[in-house]
Amino acid sequence: MAGIFTPWKLKDLTIPNRLVRSATWEGLAEADGTPTYELVNVLAALAEGGVGLIITGFAFISPEGKALPKQTGAHIDAMIGPLTRISDAVHKCGGLVALQIAHAGGQTKQEWTGHRPVGPSAIQHPAFGPVQELSKDQIADIIEAFALAAGRGKAAGFDAVELHAAHGYLANQFLSPFCNQRQDEYGGDWQGRGRFVFEMCRAARDLVGPHYPVFIKLNTADYVDNGLELSDALKVAQRLSDMGLDAIEVSGGQPAAGKLGSARKVKEPDQEGYFLDNAVAVKQVVACPVISVGGWRSRAQVEKALEHVDAVSMSRPFIRQPDLAKRWQAGETQAACISCNGCFKVNMTQGLGCAQELKEQAKEGQ
Ligand SMILES: Cc1cc2nc3c(=O)[nH]c(=O)nc-3n(C[C@H](O)[C@H](O)[C@H](O)COP(=O)(O)O)c2cc1C
Repeated sequence: MAGIFTPWKLKDLTIPNRLVRSATWEGLAEADGTPTYELVNVLAALAEGGVGLIITGFAFISPEGKALPKQTGAHIDAMIGPLTRISDAVHKCGGLVALQIAHAGGQTKQEWTGHRPVGPSAIQHPAFGPVQELSKDQIADIIEAFALAAGRGKAAGFDAVELHAAHGYLANQFLSPFCNQRQDEYGGDWQGRGRFVFEMCRAARDLVGPHYPVFIKLNTADYVDNGLELSDALKVAQRLSDMGLDAIEVSGGQPAAGKLGSARKVKEPDQEGYFLDNAVAVKQVVACPVISVGGWRSRAQVEKALEHVDAVSMSRPFIRQPDLAKRWQAGETQAACISCNGCFKVNMTQGLGCAQELKEQAKEGQ
């Protein structure tokens, strides 16, 4: 059984502990996607704080795939230079960093992208409105854009890239029957709905080569009517492992799932690790390392989880305590995060920050 501070291998990377910073949109890029120095400093602070591997907030692979304002871009070669500032800063602090890349699909707004939202099928997205169906040529272009963005991550010195196929974004939309009603080879059974994800991973792998770590954040259930079910996700995960993906970060939920979304409330220890069962099921069918994300808050629960999975990842706790790994290594046992989800609003308005911390600071200032 591996303890939290036991190193592990991801291809040729040796990751010093089992704590991963899960991708977290920071809201700290310029309008054109250029990462700001504030973002570089945030990621360097995480590295200084001792987390084993940092996964950046999702970077958009093409303009129409932008999900949120002030999101980092990996959509053009001109981003390689600015992105290199991130990997340089993290490496100087002794850390490792993966670039997460994503396409929002129908889960975005025209006012943020300048384009009409697109997806596998022309549906009415419950939270975002009408979606325009992608043609096969457009699908091919997006798959190529994923590969090129992965290549930019490698060129910019990142230690790995993570492809985002969770939380209702485009790759997840292809997997989900309620978003994907296509009659062609990109729809239908799990193999048809999985085709986009398989082609995206294959294209990324072909571009970055066999030795560069490529992993995926995969929804294992959507928790909505007619959504992706665990049974299909397991078959997809197994195929991805067979294709040579280097790790799978197991997630679930999406905006339309409400309380069963990806960032749930965690009040009690038994609410921690709410996707662990899915991660354990994935672990049983794949050969690659499995990372469990979703609600980890205490050393005790993380230690138990590591009996079953290779690593755990956290997002909200690292917003409040970028040095959480060092704190746990020094003997602290609990994250201070109370899962209020106030960080979404803070990130939208002023860039990465913890709402509780800001409240406390305001009180102290009174
Ligand atoms: C402010 C915020 C931004 C997020 N941005 C991303 C993102 O860019 N990519 C992603 O895959 N997940 C993103 N997530 C989801 C987290 O990575 C994670 O899956 C989820 O919050 C559950 O983990 P936690 O309980 O440790 O926060 C975000 C979550 C939060 C709170």
